[in-house]
Amino acid sequence: MSILIINIQELLQVREPNVLKVSGEEMKTLPTLQNAYLLIEKDTIIDFGTMDNCKGITADTTIDASGKIVMPTWCDSHTHIVYAGNREQDFVDRINGLSYADIANRGGGIVNSAEKLQNTTEDALYEQSVGRVKSVMKLGTGALEIKSGYGLTTAAEIKMLRVVQRIKNDFPIKIKATFLGAHALPKEYKENKDGYIDLIIDEMLPKIAEENLADYVDVFCEKGYFSLEDTERIMEAGKKYNLVSKIHVNQFNAFGGIALSVKHNALSVDHLEELNDDDIAALKGSNTMPVALPSCSYFLSIPYTPGRKIIDAGLPLALASDYNPGSTPSGNMNFVVSTACIKMRLTPEEAINAATINGAYAMGISNAYGSITKGKKANLIITKQVPSYNYLPYSFGENLIENVIINGKLLE
Ligand code: NIG
Ligand code: FE
Repeated sequence: MSILIINIQELLQVREPNVLKVSGEEMKTLPTLQNAYLLIEKDTIIDFGTMDNCKGITADTTIDASGKIVMPTWCDSHTHIVYAGNREQDFVDRINGLSYADIANRGGGIVNSAEKLQNTTEDALYEQSVGRVKSVMKLGTGALEIKSGYGLTTAAEIKMLRVVQRIKNDFPIKIKATFLGAHALPKEYKENKDGYIDLIIDEMLPKIAEENLADYVDVFCEKGYFSLEDTERIMEAGKKYNLVSKIHVNQFNAFGGIALSVKHNALSVDHLEELNDDDIAALKGSNTMPVALPSCSYFLSIPYTPGRKIIDAGLPLALASDYNPGSTPSGNMNFVVSTACIKMRLTPEEAINAATINGAYAMGISNAYGSITKGKKANLIITKQVPSYNYLPYSFGENLIENVIINGKLLE
């Protein structure tokens, strides 16, 4: 099965195979081909170029993309898309004056989602989650990292990760699974945090590793959740099972979690709404990707990650959705990219780089996803007719995607 896309107004994010992430000044450039074609064979991009070199190329299907943009699908490196029910009551309570912390302190928040998930069967959880996965695919997401962390018991964490496995087997998009047992303290361990961390290390991790249910390990490193010491214990335990860390850090407070994550070679540090100069210094020269989640800032009305400052310091930046029932009930990466431009003052080039190649890096897949590169997976967005790529973030809230191709197949 082959597909030839012709007359592409702009083919975006054309990269050499050795580019696995872009940082600082490089993020300002989005390599583009005008009036281009692209050839897909099976699930792979095998050729592209300008239309004057397209003569003689044929395929099973030809798509005319006159006036349209073709670009890699979004790589959403941070989601909690597997969850049960919703938290619309938290939303209303916040409107009426409670804070995210107030809601958590009275036993709501993450622990509330955990209760719902514990009382939901694996099949029902799968059905609910699959609905969300289908909808983000239609919105152009071609790779998803999915975290556990709404189980908070061994059985429920494993249930979540099994659902992630089923999604991985049943859907063509790339999925990476992250174990986030240390997302909140379950009620039964309210007075015994060390006991819960022991449970994570001695029971959950070995079982999850034995069933090969996770690629990464995560901790919510935050005041009132897990401390630096707790985070370090879990990162070290994860290493014994070859689980690299991706850490929730600096969402509400900056207290050294970034330096700690860098010290342990974390693949990414995510949130960073509160960021100081020490944090920036710690990231310099590291392999750790800073990840901003602007839809979370939007929904909770908390500060936006200082993405401008991060990029201007010469660092890379990735953008992800954080899709979850509490702080971000949306997995729309088009909105993420717009919001990064509007609220974080990223240029369209920076935002698109952050949501494609750098997102792929933050989930360890940028050798095969995140750019238009020969040999990479044919995961593509074809837009509607638009004047230029600036128009995509500019038209916030509007769906400008006409077609999505995943693994070389047009999404129905
Ligand atoms: O990334 N901050 C921690 N975890 C999620 C929110 C979880 C929730 O409120 O259910 C986040 O924002
Ligand atoms: Fe999150």
